[in-house]
Amino acid sequence: MDAVDQAAVRVEKPNAKNTYLCRMQKILFVCLGNICRSPMAEAIMRHILQQKGQADNYKIASAAVSEEEWGNPIYPPAARILRAHGIPYDTERIARQMKAEDYDRFDLIVGMDEANVLAIRRIAGGDPQNKVHMLMDYAGCHRAVADPWYTRDFETAYRDIMTGCQALYDHLMS
Ligand code: 4NP
Repeated sequence: MDAVDQAAVRVEKPNAKNTYLCRMQKILFVCLGNICRSPMAEAIMRHILQQKGQADNYKIASAAVSEEEWGNPIYPPAARILRAHGIPYDTERIARQMKAEDYDRFDLIVGMDEANVLAIRRIAGGDPQNKVHMLMDYAGCHRAVADPWYTRDFETAYRDIMTGCQALYDHLMS
């Protein structure tokens, strides 16, 4: 049993509204390489949940659709923008590719752009449980998170991801 599966069998806790018992929800953020956008989303979402006292109710992780960056740490400019905004991140984590079994292990799989969503569905063999979504859709705009890989604009990517994660948090609490 790995860390994610262990998280699923942790003691049940009251949900945000304290009305019924629920198990830990697991969210996987996914981008192309898992060194820029999805690790930023992982760190930002975890930070939001921590600030709201909800960290124990959610397991947050990230992965790539490609194997290009397998084993690499978060990209230094992405780490710098997180530090500049006071967002803690896991300095030990390394990129990994999403596997088909992640579809069953996670409750929600959130891609950063349309290509990610198509690739996630291909890896998972479809999306029969409607778990796969695009981050900015939660913020009411059907568009990609600004990709800093080519623009080098990590601040705009940070703002998009923060907006998307805050909207996702509101969705989870609603
Ligand atoms: P990410 O960024 O998908 O946000 O982690 C990229 C990382 C690597 C490449 C492209 C985007 N690449 O072409 O290697």
